[in-house]
Amino acid sequence: MSQLLGAPETGAAPFDAANVKPASAPVVTNMSAEGFTVLWGVSGPATGWVEYGETPEMGKRSVGERGLMPYDSYVIKARIEGLKPGTKYYYRVHTRGVNFVNAYKILPAEPILSEVGAVTTLNPKGATADFIVWNDTHEVKAVLTRLAELTRAQSADFLLWNGDQTNYMLDEREMVEQFLNPAGQTYARDLPLMYVRGNHDVRGVAARSLPRFTDTPDDLYYYSFRQGPLAALVMDTGEDKPDDHPVYGGLNDFSGFRKQQQAWLEQEIQKPHIKSAPYKVLFCHIPMCWKRPEEKGAYCVEGHDLWHDLLVKAGVQLVISGHTHDATWMPAEGKRPYGQLIGGGPKLEGATIIRGKADAKELRVQMTDLTGKELALVQIKPHKRG
Ligand SMILES: [Fe+2]
Ligand SMILES: [Fe+2]
Repeated sequence: MSQLLGAPETGAAPFDAANVKPASAPVVTNMSAEGFTVLWGVSGPATGWVEYGETPEMGKRSVGERGLMPYDSYVIKARIEGLKPGTKYYYRVHTRGVNFVNAYKILPAEPILSEVGAVTTLNPKGATADFIVWNDTHEVKAVLTRLAELTRAQSADFLLWNGDQTNYMLDEREMVEQFLNPAGQTYARDLPLMYVRGNHDVRGVAARSLPRFTDTPDDLYYYSFRQGPLAALVMDTGEDKPDDHPVYGGLNDFSGFRKQQQAWLEQEIQKPHIKSAPYKVLFCHIPMCWKRPEEKGAYCVEGHDLWHDLLVKAGVQLVISGHTHDATWMPAEGKRPYGQLIGGGPKLEGATIIRGKADAKELRVQMTDLTGKELALVQIKPHKRG
């Protein structure tokens, strides 16, 4: 994706780069055992970097990509690699407005420093995994504010935002608000965000800009990671209507994308970090099944048909989804050895938060409404290591 999409228009009036400010708190994402990415919004053309280290004094800084430091009018993205697993890192971001007059005249302003945040890298060999799941927030301020408050009040290894962050995407300036500054909340400064794409997050003329505002391995929305005893598979269920539905104007190919993910899943479940895990959970926006099977838009029929046998083969015990806006728990049954947990919707009274905790004894996943009332409690015993 060209960075020029965010550059000021040629012929625009000169401006003072010192007026460019950060437009969101830092969002830590794409956490692994060796690195993480920081994203933050900016109010105009800017560059930036991350200062980090194992002590509050920090001392190291992120590097550019292919020799160039970031330059963008909406969002700065910086990746840090070479870290140690299960280790706490302090960091802050430096934002520097840039007046890019021409190829030989670039006038940067003084850097603006963020507050210091702290995050811990994933630890595949750790004893526990703690996570929080949001879904279907659809830009509803009251829900986002409450979810952020609840999330800041507890510690976890990661926050997974399970799709439908938006209703649709129309321009990149709005995407800063949608993804990095939801309801003005600092939500992933001290807790890494694992991003999952929902069916609304592929809609709108700016949908193809999403990888600028999110970060996932190789900018794909299907990936896996390991935290302690938990192996997480993340998949992209795509749209909720067939690709040839007239509302998509022939611009969708999710059928091909689901087949691509089937091939990926077949390989991924053979990898040691998945195979050896006592608990295996699939996170995907649209569920694999639904209590009223005749409602074809409520679950991912094609994803189920392509992926189900591999999920069973892998020993996946639980699928955590959203999409239906109707908080539901469907225990494992018959030919479906995995349970299906579905978070609630974007209205304050129907919204949910899901909290998971895994240790050597069990994986315990609780879904509550935003007043704390329990809606489902899932308890899963570990796989015997094969
Ligand atoms: Fe939704
Ligand atoms: Fe959805």
